[in-house]
Amino acid sequence: MELVHIRPDAGADDPHLSRAAERLRAGGLVAFPTETVYGLGAHALDEAAVARIYAAKGRPAHNPVIVHVADAQAARSVVAEWTPHAELLARCFWPGPLTLVLPKGACVPASVVAGLEKVGVRVPAHPLALALLRAARVPVAAPSANRSNEVSPTTAMHVVESLGSADVLVLDGGACSVGIESTVIDVSGPGPVLLRPGGVARDELERVLGVPVARASEVAGDTPRAAPGMLGKHYATRASLVLAPHGDAGALRARLSKASAAQPPAALVFEASARELGEAARILVMPLDPRLYARRLYAALRELDARAPALIVVESPPPGVEWDALRDRLSRAAASADDSAR
Ligand code: TXA
Ligand code: MG
Repeated sequence: MELVHIRPDAGADDPHLSRAAERLRAGGLVAFPTETVYGLGAHALDEAAVARIYAAKGRPAHNPVIVHVADAQAARSVVAEWTPHAELLARCFWPGPLTLVLPKGACVPASVVAGLEKVGVRVPAHPLALALLRAARVPVAAPSANRSNEVSPTTAMHVVESLGSADVLVLDGGACSVGIESTVIDVSGPGPVLLRPGGVARDELERVLGVPVARASEVAGDTPRAAPGMLGKHYATRASLVLAPHGDAGALRARLSKASAAQPPAALVFEASARELGEAARILVMPLDPRLYARRLYAALRELDARAPALIVVESPPPGVEWDALRDRLSRAAASADDSAR
């Protein structure tokens, strides 16, 4: 592992950037910032390079990897079909936190898509990610740069903590601005299907497409019910994580009381509840704004987890579609804690 700091406006003439691009072309791994989370990148058309991603993450072979490209033109080169819905969404949201799932192009190795017929493709908005993709001149497969099932990294230090022993060049471009992963939408057929909520909200997608976007869980038949890697354990903290209802200090206190005095609990709550809890736990206060909350969430979970609390109690977000992606990540983190307790 090697960590280099790099200017956010670095261009092809930056020595770190050109070295990183060269490393990607040669089949090596490069971790880089995107606006959502840090990605662990490899040459998407080089099977041996893609295998290094799976090995470094300990990622199961059935979980496909998103292909990152510099623009929509490059996206077309990795898909077999570019649909009208893909065109609409790419025009509105790229570069940005949206992954389009489309029929896979013949050039994409089966290992990138875990043997599926479709590929996820995204143009990230972070200037460094775009500069790296342009300099590399190859599509870059990149999952989040963490060990499989861990909380995603939103800083370069998180990447080092997660993947410290792997042979990776890490570009440190500061903290990620969105903070949770991209929205994943299947736009291969007539009816778009939301596979993972994320940086772009479902109502924004519907406004642009002019048709309803089904949630994966609402789609019957043999369409996969969610993005394949989203099933089961994910986004796990080491400590078990439990959710408490929004705005209910009594319920928070009841959950916190389950921890022992020797190993105090930790809590992630909104300000009103923090005032009511007083000294009951090690508390981190979260903003009542979904964008700011997302930007801070993964770092907050890592910070609490590092104190090895008996458990982490998280106050659920308030109702409202703008909190959908956050509710999704938090409920998966809670479910993961259940899984690992078994
Ligand atoms: O924001 C993001 O999407 C970040 C940054 C690095 O771009 N990447 C990321 O990758 O979150 P990862 O591998 O941690 O999550 C990718 C998700 C998984 O749930 C995977 O199952 C889904 O996207 N996905 C990827 N390719 C797919 C495909 N061909 N069909 C269905 N789902 C796919
Ligand atoms: Mg991930």
